[in-house]
Amino acid sequence: MNTTAPSTAPLLEIRHLTTSFASEHGVLPVVDDVSLSVPPGACVGIVGESGCGKSAVAMSVVRLLPQPSSRIPAGQVLFHEQDLLSMPTRQLNTIRGAHIGVIFQEAMQALNPVQRIGDQIAEPLMRHLGLSEAEARARAVQLLEAVRVPAPTQRAQEYPHTLSGGMRQRAMIAIALACKPELIIADEPTTALDTTVQQQVLTLLHDLRQELNAACLLISHNLGVIAQNCDFVYVMYAGRVVECAPVRELFAHPKHAYTRALLAATIRPDMPRKSPLPGIPGNVPAPHEYATGCRFCQRMGRRPPLGLERPPFAEVTPGHFAELCPACCNEAISH
Ligand SMILES: Nc1ncnc2c1ncn2[C@@H]1O[C@H](COP(=O)(O)OP(=O)(O)OP(=O)(O)O)[C@@H](O)[C@H]1O
Ligand SMILES: [Mg+2]
Repeated sequence: MNTTAPSTAPLLEIRHLTTSFASEHGVLPVVDDVSLSVPPGACVGIVGESGCGKSAVAMSVVRLLPQPSSRIPAGQVLFHEQDLLSMPTRQLNTIRGAHIGVIFQEAMQALNPVQRIGDQIAEPLMRHLGLSEAEARARAVQLLEAVRVPAPTQRAQEYPHTLSGGMRQRAMIAIALACKPELIIADEPTTALDTTVQQQVLTLLHDLRQELNAACLLISHNLGVIAQNCDFVYVMYAGRVVECAPVRELFAHPKHAYTRALLAATIRPDMPRKSPLPGIPGNVPAPHEYATGCRFCQRMGRRPPLGLERPPFAEVTPGHFAELCPACCNEAISH
């Protein structure tokens, strides 16, 4: 499958990635033949419900999957056309944190609880940019100021647990952006925050990204966040990309039943008050439950109409790709 987004040479290109985890049911793929690309300076989204494999894709890119339970048996992750998956760790370490900044899903788990915030920001500056300790500490305070943490000099001296959730998320953005990366991977950067702080953090991320002209791989289960921030979006379901398109196109002409169901389940201001939210019946199957054929048909209790391992994934209109299950994709029959 070729799902290259727009026409410029991609900064990041994931090709046919498969990521597996060892579990009591055996070693099972949680990311199944995923391809995606991020052009320089663009914001590309991955959306899907919990357990679809969004974080597994993101953590595969930077090889930060839990060990020893994970494997990447197939695929390539090309950053500037160099495969991060086959690169020696030492070489990868010169890219991670310097050219690729990562904002993790759980700020509290990602930050070191026993290291002062300022030192955590200063570390990549010393390692990657060769700043002296004093220079890096001064720059850390500036970065805290740039992410609009009040009293940054004082905050730099504090430990993560003394900061609010929003402040911790800002501190993590400061670490991710410290070395002015070309690519930011933001895995649910605002999920744990209340709505007001969520909006502030997203605006901040957007502004800083513009300043650096950095590309972003933004992961979210929230279609509103994707619509507001992304140029192009990949919809993941049960370890696979089931649809991808420029963001406006996807919202205007969703092709796959899963995308349509996700959109229908989003609260919109024009909905009548107290109208029931059309949820998606059932749950995302666990990897050991994945059936052969269309995995959304599996959820909907349908026998997959095609007797294939997987429905073909193809371009339905220019730049818009979907998994062509005749029961799920409203363009499938005509192909
Ligand atoms: N360390 C692990 N060991 C075994 N299975 C795992 C591990 N981490 C994740 N998984 C499984 O891999 C699948 C994908 O998980 P992943 O965390 O990538 O989903 P996600 O789309 O990021 O979900 P969320 O929106 O909840 O963050 C899930 O079925 C999950 O249970
Ligand atoms: Mg996740």
